[in-house]
Amino acid sequence: MQYEVVLPAAGSGKRMGAGQNKLFLPLLEKPILMHTLEIFERDHHCTGIWLAVKPEEKAFIEELLERYHITKVKGLPAGGEERQHSVHSCLKAMEQVEIVLVHDAARPFITQEIIAQLAKVAYEEGAAIAGVRAKDTMKKVRGTVIAETIERDSLWMIQTPQAFRFDLLAEAADVAEKVGFLGTDEAMLVERLGHEVHIVESSYENLKMTTQEDLLFGEAILRKRVNEG
Ligand code: CTP
Ligand code: MG
Repeated sequence: MQYEVVLPAAGSGKRMGAGQNKLFLPLLEKPILMHTLEIFERDHHCTGIWLAVKPEEKAFIEELLERYHITKVKGLPAGGEERQHSVHSCLKAMEQVEIVLVHDAARPFITQEIIAQLAKVAYEEGAAIAGVRAKDTMKKVRGTVIAETIERDSLWMIQTPQAFRFDLLAEAADVAEKVGFLGTDEAMLVERLGHEVHIVESSYENLKMTTQEDLLFGEAILRKRVNEG
């Protein structure tokens, strides 16, 4: 199933505390952003990449695209204040396609198998998101006191990619903008239209590089993959 991908890359990486956009930090010498881009560059089902960027970082990112031979980028629209705005600015710049994936540029370990499964389910059902089962016991806490233990079997930790029929996500993003709704993922925008969203079981390796220790885990995952060829 062919798709185009939106990669929000216009954050500032505050929690990483690196004093710059964390996507430029290296994992085994290559910037995080380039690891992510290479996955989609190599995936034959990916027919176009849309990168939301900070205007002041655009020229540098264009240099990186050339240096790493990334050829599928169709546009680098300006990102916004929140991630949702950055994604929306890509959706507005795109031509209509059948399936669109949204994937955090800060998740450089997604695999082609999971991407393919998401695109397939989105084609069949309209909306599919990646997630993994919660591993720990989950409790709701008020102040410092346990209010409730939540039954774990129904709990999933949600990741990206999130895949949609393009018209469904575009409509959901337009409606959210109109009413001023801010979600923490794309699925929330679609859920509030009353549309079912399906889960695709992903991998615990699909980490988001968020804080310093994630870089250590990230390099360990890369080394393992290099060793496995
Ligand atoms: N992002 C974006 N536009 C924003 C905020 C985030 O395009 N206004 C992107 C980030 O670049 C990242 C992805 O959305 O690839 C996931 O966001 P997150 O991990 O929160 O990254 P940052 O917002 O950069 O980090 P922090 O929240 O720690 O500042
Ligand atoms: Mg953020």
